[in-house]
Amino acid sequence: MQTDIEALRAQMREDLKKVDSADTLKNFWQEYLGKNGRIPALMKDLRNVAPEDRPSMGKIINELKNRVQESYKEAEARVKELELTSQNEAETVDITMPAKIRQNGSLHPITLVRNQIIDVFAGMGFEIYEGPEIEDDTHCFTRLNVPKDHPARDMQDTFYLTDELLLRTQTSAGQIRVMDAEKPPIKVLVPGRVFRSDSDATHSPMFHQMEGLVVDKDITLCDLQGMLDELCRNLFGSEVRTRLRPSYFPFTEPSVEVDVSCFECGGKGCGLCKHTGWIEILGGGVVNRKVLENCGIDPDVYSGIAFGIGIERIAMLKYGINNIGLFFQNNIRFLEQFRA
Ligand code: DAH
Repeated sequence: MQTDIEALRAQMREDLKKVDSADTLKNFWQEYLGKNGRIPALMKDLRNVAPEDRPSMGKIINELKNRVQESYKEAEARVKELELTSQNEAETVDITMPAKIRQNGSLHPITLVRNQIIDVFAGMGFEIYEGPEIEDDTHCFTRLNVPKDHPARDMQDTFYLTDELLLRTQTSAGQIRVMDAEKPPIKVLVPGRVFRSDSDATHSPMFHQMEGLVVDKDITLCDLQGMLDELCRNLFGSEVRTRLRPSYFPFTEPSVEVDVSCFECGGKGCGLCKHTGWIEILGGGVVNRKVLENCGIDPDVYSGIAFGIGIERIAMLKYGINNIGLFFQNNIRFLEQFRA
């Protein structure tokens, strides 16, 4: 039996060296210390030992058992350590790895121009009003001095929804809504989308306008030019000038077309200004007396100025864009050029 024990001890040392994981540790325990393991088997064999040798044999086996238990504990600690190390290795962060690049978004050029115009007029004390996109004929035309069958209706190709309802063709409809709701002094901007049955390189069925309306005592065309001077210098550079040309709109009298001196050639004449030195940018005028009357404002006491800016047109001029469709295609290569 003694030789059996020596062999077992040697075998155990060998097996112990192979323990390197939770699985092999468990196997080791079952092999030596488990219910059917070798140590309990030795204990059982003690029965077959001569009674006089049993105490000394028993002692040797007990010592062996203690030794195996200690070895097991050491192996257990070692396996834990190994597992921890491999876990740490697996979770290591490689700080030299390049970071994932996240693309920053940017504001749409229409939004940029819209915000810039609002900034200029907000500095002069204008408030913002936003009217409905589905309008009625009265606000969009009749009360703006464009009665039914008036030839001026042909200036805009309207999308009618019913006989009375339509998609607004101009933010000018907002003028009526503001004057219905407020008494002078009035100083508002009406930004918004407008709709016309029109489509080519410079026209889109949906586009954006910014209406301006000022109503107070002693408001004249000079106020209009002063404000638009300020706007143009802000949009196109401090050296540009503006000029007013006579025009016609039913809701203003007199009506003007506003030109800005060409910011590309400084007024000498180039492709952009079609060799005239001037670029037409918006329409405006003195609010027609009839429009004030239509809103219950006494035209002998108050006067007003109004203007309408096409945002796409300004953005196309400012950024050198030759096709209005680019604003609505959402091509990333176009849009990312406006990243601040
Ligand atoms: N509503 C006009 C248009 O869409 C633009 C316009 C012209 C607005 C003169 C005005 C104005 O307020 O006074 O063509």
